[in-house]
Amino acid sequence: MKALEGIRVLDFTHVQSGPTCTQLLAWFGADVIKVERPGTGDITRNQLQDIPNVDSLYFTMLNHNKRSITLDTKHPKGKEVLERLIKVCDVLVENFAPGVLDRMGFSWERIQELNPRMIYASIKGFGPGPYEDCKVYENIAQCTGGAASTTGFDDGPPLVTGAQIGDSGTGLHLALGIVTALFQRTRTGRGQRVTCAMQDGVLNLCRVKLRDQQRLAHGPLTEYPQYSEGKPFGDTVPRSGNASGGGQPGWILKCKGWETDPNAYIYFIAQAPVWDKICDVIGEPEWKTHPDYATPKARLPRLKQIFERIEQWTMTKTKFEVMETLNKYDIPCGPILSMKELAEDQSLRATGTIVEVDHPTRGKYLTVGNPIKLSDSPAEVRRSPLLGEHTEEILRDVLGYTDEEIAEIRPATEPPQRQAAE
Ligand code: COA
Repeated sequence: MKALEGIRVLDFTHVQSGPTCTQLLAWFGADVIKVERPGTGDITRNQLQDIPNVDSLYFTMLNHNKRSITLDTKHPKGKEVLERLIKVCDVLVENFAPGVLDRMGFSWERIQELNPRMIYASIKGFGPGPYEDCKVYENIAQCTGGAASTTGFDDGPPLVTGAQIGDSGTGLHLALGIVTALFQRTRTGRGQRVTCAMQDGVLNLCRVKLRDQQRLAHGPLTEYPQYSEGKPFGDTVPRSGNASGGGQPGWILKCKGWETDPNAYIYFIAQAPVWDKICDVIGEPEWKTHPDYATPKARLPRLKQIFERIEQWTMTKTKFEVMETLNKYDIPCGPILSMKELAEDQSLRATGTIVEVDHPTRGKYLTVGNPIKLSDSPAEVRRSPLLGEHTEEILRDVLGYTDEEIAEIRPATEPPQRQAAE
């Protein structure tokens, strides 16, 4: 039995943020019914397509283990079906632009009337306030949530990061809100409204930068590169390059082959408890006792020079050789791994974090499996559904429609062209 077995999710999500959330719920065993517009479906099915007329990797990698029903929810018959689905589902998840579900006729009040046990979960770009009506995509959330202003180098422009903290990050937050609401429902018998704003989700992940904003009032941020470079601080947290966000200084250093391999680098943490070992490894044993280097405080204004010296050593070895040597001494470090290296990593395959999936029109492809491992509820990754693949099955088995009734509601489940052709 899976952890969320018996929980039925009405999945009104599209693009990335919402689908990330419902994919997790599906991996934990929920029956996720994805409602898609007849003919087109989730817009990502056709976005960034690498093979013509085949569901894109963007779509397949975010919609595993779900069932797909096509339904025109603006059609009177589609609304009828949707009402019945709301009555038999436990959770409704959506990430439409603000007001879309209300315009369809499904306000929170209406949903509660139809099913008081329903947990109605939404992702929006912003919470209540001046921007609440705005549409938002990943990078907008990164910029408005504090990530971009604190990412990059102090002499360059703000930078967005490749990690999809606005979309996938908020999807993760929402999933936690949903399972928490499900838990509370076991005591109250009632559903509730769960909302996550992407700006809030990103800011939550940038918590340490709000910490630093407040520290700034009490003096310079001594672990930031600006400090050891003698640059003055302004009144806002600067971009800190590759400096560690924590109390142990760190930096990205070149390794052997960096001239031709863009990923021949390692992240090196000059952790205080292993400082003596670091000095021995890089061949500077006198730094163990020298007053300029012996204590963390003495090292702070010299971090740039210290990392340059460590880099002279890392450049003599490949990133994996550096890792092997440092591991022997418990010196924390991590090679910069490319997507190619991760895709080929056998240990990630063994744990199910990278999974090969077979798809009827695409063939085999790689995806990221469930990173959250439950001992009693292991996740098995099943391919994403084709558009409307389960329409009849859901109408019949979940909602109890007869074949005749299914034929009657076809105007709401199939695109007009297909009906005309038939
Ligand atoms: N049947 C009929 N109509 C449907 C439908 C269905 N099954 N599914 C969707 N629609 C309609 C909606 O009713 C809406 O119509 P309306 O505007 O006339 O009411 C329309 O499709 C489009 O919805 P919308 O959400 O506005 O899509 P968009 O492509 O214009 O905007 C986003 C996309 C992502 C910007 C927007 O949805 C958004 O801001 N979402 C919240 C934040 C978010 O999650 N962003 C990150 C996405 S990864």
